Order: sequence, then C-alpha cells, then structure tokens
Amino acid sequence: VKGGFATFMEKEIHDQPAAVRDTLLGRMSPTGSLQLDELRIDESILRRVDKIVVVACGTAAYAGHVAKYAIEHWCRIPVEVELAHEFRYRDPVVSEKTLVVAITQSGETMDTLMAVRHAREQGAKVLAIVNTHGSTIARESDAVLYTHAGPEVAVASTKAFVAQITATYLLGLYLAQLRGNKYSDEVVTYLDELMKMPDKIAEVIAREDDIKDLAHRMKDVTSVLFLGRHVGFPVALEGALKLKELAYIHAEGFAAGELKHGPIALVEEGQPVFFIVPTPRRPLLHAKVMSNVREVNARGARVLCIAEEGDTAVEEFAADVIRIPETPTLLHPLVSVIPLQIFACALAAEKGLDVDQPRNLAKSVTVE
Ligand code: F6R
Repeated sequence: VKGGFATFMEKEIHDQPAAVRDTLLGRMSPTGSLQLDELRIDESILRRVDKIVVVACGTAAYAGHVAKYAIEHWCRIPVEVELAHEFRYRDPVVSEKTLVVAITQSGETMDTLMAVRHAREQGAKVLAIVNTHGSTIARESDAVLYTHAGPEVAVASTKAFVAQITATYLLGLYLAQLRGNKYSDEVVTYLDELMKMPDKIAEVIAREDDIKDLAHRMKDVTSVLFLGRHVGFPVALEGALKLKELAYIHAEGFAAGELKHGPIALVEEGQPVFFIVPTPRRPLLHAKVMSNVREVNARGARVLCIAEEGDTAVEEFAADVIRIPETPTLLHPLVSVIPLQIFACALAAEKGLDVDQPRNLAKSVTVE
C-alpha cells in the first residue's frame, strides 16, 4: 500500500506528478470549457459573478491564497480568501453574484461545511473543490470540481495541496475564457505550461537526497522562518505549517515585505531562514526578495534559498540553494512547495517521529 516507501507521506510526495496530471486530464479544451463533475450552476450565473470568496482551513486555505493571485489576474474578479471558521462567525457580505469556492481534501471538514451552508443560506452559489467523492461538502454544494489526487492517507496534506492548486488554476482559466477579457488570450499558453508541471515536479523530487541531507544537517534546529512574496507567501506559510505539524519545530511563515515591520527582530546569528525566491524573469519581484535575502544574511542568519536554475544571484548569500525548474510566476507554488514538504518529512524522520500520524492531529476534522 505504501508503494515501496517507508511511510505514506513519502509515497504521497512521490504521487504528486500524477496528482497534478490526473487533475488536469481531460478537464479543459482549448476553447476553455471546463469539465465540472457536478454542475448545478448556470453558465449565465458564472458570467455575472462579481466576487469570489474562497473558504477553507489549513493547507487547503493556502491553496486558496495561491488561487487569489491567479484568478484575480486572469479574470479581474476580486477574490477574498477566508478561513472557513472565521467566515462563518462574522457577517460576511455575500449575494447571488458571489461565488463561494470551498476547498477541501476530505469534504468532511466541519468548519468548511458550516461555511458552505452559511453561504448558501445567503443566496451565494457554492463551488467545491474536493478530493473525496460523494463526501458531504461535495453533496451539499452547487457544483463540484474534483481533484484527482487519489486517497491521501498521511495526516499532513501534500498531494491534495498541489491538486487543489491545479484545480483552482483550471477554474480561473475557465472563468477567464467564459467571461472574455484582455487576459483570456493567456488561457491557451497557461494550459500548455500547466501540462509541463508534472515533469517539473518530478525533477524536484528527483533531488530529494540533497534536501534530506540538509534536513540531516539541521536536525537540531529549534526555530525556522519562511519568507516569500506574491505566490511565494502562501508557500512560506505552508512550509512553516508542514514543519510544525510533522517535526514539532517552532516555525513561522511571513510575507517577505513584512520583515522590516517586525519579524526581522527575530533574526539573529545562525537563525535558519528559508526564502522562496521568485523567478528572475520577473526582475522587480525578484529584486525585492533579494533585498530581504541580503538584509537577513547581513544579520548572520543561515539563509536557505529555493530558487530557479540559473538564478546565480542567490549564491553569494545562501548557505544552501535548492533548485527548481524555470516556471511562470503564477505556477511557481507547484514546484516551490515540494522541497519544503520533503524537508519537513525528512526532519521529522531524523527526529524519529511518526510522519504519517503526528501527535494531536486527525486526518479530517469533523468537529467545529
Ligand atoms: C495540513 C492539513 C490540514 C488540512 C485542513 C483542511 O497538512 O492537512 O491543515 O488541510 O484540516 O482539511 P480538508 O482539506 O480535508 O478540509
């Protein structure tokens, strides 16, 4: 069942190229029609949507944060991302023109289910991105776009996360095409780029020994920071969450630009700081993160960069560089999160912990 791996988590990390490929498969024609598994929303309603609210918890919510960057860019529809349990207990502004997107691996997370019910009571349409067929959230939503990650057994989410991100890209490209705007001509290009992602993910996984070696060298650390900008920000949050839940190490993710507004006070000699470095083909974005890399390096921190191949700028400042293939900015999370998953899993293994079943956690949280 573990496919020759010692743990489900390692197997599921290796399943990720397939999870993305299967989620893309047969889903979208070049004319932009998306295969929603269960569609109880009229296309004319989707054309009129004036706001999208993503509701989810934990890792699934980070997939929602990635979705915001992509969907706002392609569709010019404002996207809010909200933790499902927060959405439910305030008085959110939703109407018949709001599309609520619920993201969930299990389809049974009570917090997310309550948010779905609340949104529908307010007249919003709910589209669910779900991994588990026939689950409660899939049944109670107006439309379902299934992620085809296959069953995820390890408590900490890995392959469901990349499949969720992939599904939100499909949704964004579909809505862009349906609504037609100046960015909708990017649809074909991006579909093409998306099809290349499974191989790129496999390339990163093939370098896992270097990342395991890094985890071995860092097995005694007690605190790790993760910094990213733009889509690298949710990846930083996910890297920190993985380390907390698997290796029980204090870890925090920040938006890199926020550093000077407080977190830089935490940076001292030897403090490990991971940077998710954007592609140098986005020079402004890249330069901004590089200036944070320099600041942190100047304070004696141990800088660890996840950077594209050929990005030589990082070498001067980083103690270690983990390479990822060249990838369009919006799709970066699919490759940049992989080393962080491998790192957290390997560090937990170094500490002799149960990576499949971390303490105090349940695979699906069916209580509010
Ligand atoms: C983290 C993790 C959790 C889940 C969250 C939502 O590794 O697994 O944060 O992502 O509990 O669960 P689902 O996606 O089943 O709604």
